[in-house]
Amino acid sequence: MRVQMTVNGEARVCDVKGSESLLFALREYLQLTGSKGACEQGECGSCSVMLDGELVCACLVMAADAHGSEVVTVEGLGGSELHPVQKALVDSGAVQCGFCTPGFVVAAAALLEENPTPSSDEMREALAGNICRCTGYGAILRGLETLVAGR
Ligand code: FES
Ligand code: FES
Repeated sequence: MRVQMTVNGEARVCDVKGSESLLFALREYLQLTGSKGACEQGECGSCSVMLDGELVCACLVMAADAHGSEVVTVEGLGGSELHPVQKALVDSGAVQCGFCTPGFVVAAAALLEENPTPSSDEMREALAGNICRCTGYGAILRGLETLVAGR
């Protein structure tokens, strides 16, 4: 099936097979490899993207179902400079292997768009679907708390 989407503000087209996920299409057909596939079962959040304004696990969305949709991946968040969430995570030492980082960045950016000054509990809740095997989460939360405190 030919899938047409707006990805990070650009019209993109790819031909997908029935069982392929949006994550697969982004990475393999559109060369947007920022979104990571770890569990591919909706458990880890490493593939988080925005789909028509909603935070989703791209591994759980069939590529064909994204036809006509607007997708924002981690590549679409920054520009010539880092997105504030990216900078906050770098500054707090929250990026170790970095495999989880794109998912955290997209999820945190989505949270801050909806709620610019979340409490620590609200951050924890919003990021509960994102798994990091390296950091223990403390540096991630500290980075975001510092970002929010500066607003
Ligand atoms: S790869 Fe999609 S949630 Fe883990
Ligand atoms: S930094 Fe390695 S999984 Fe999070």
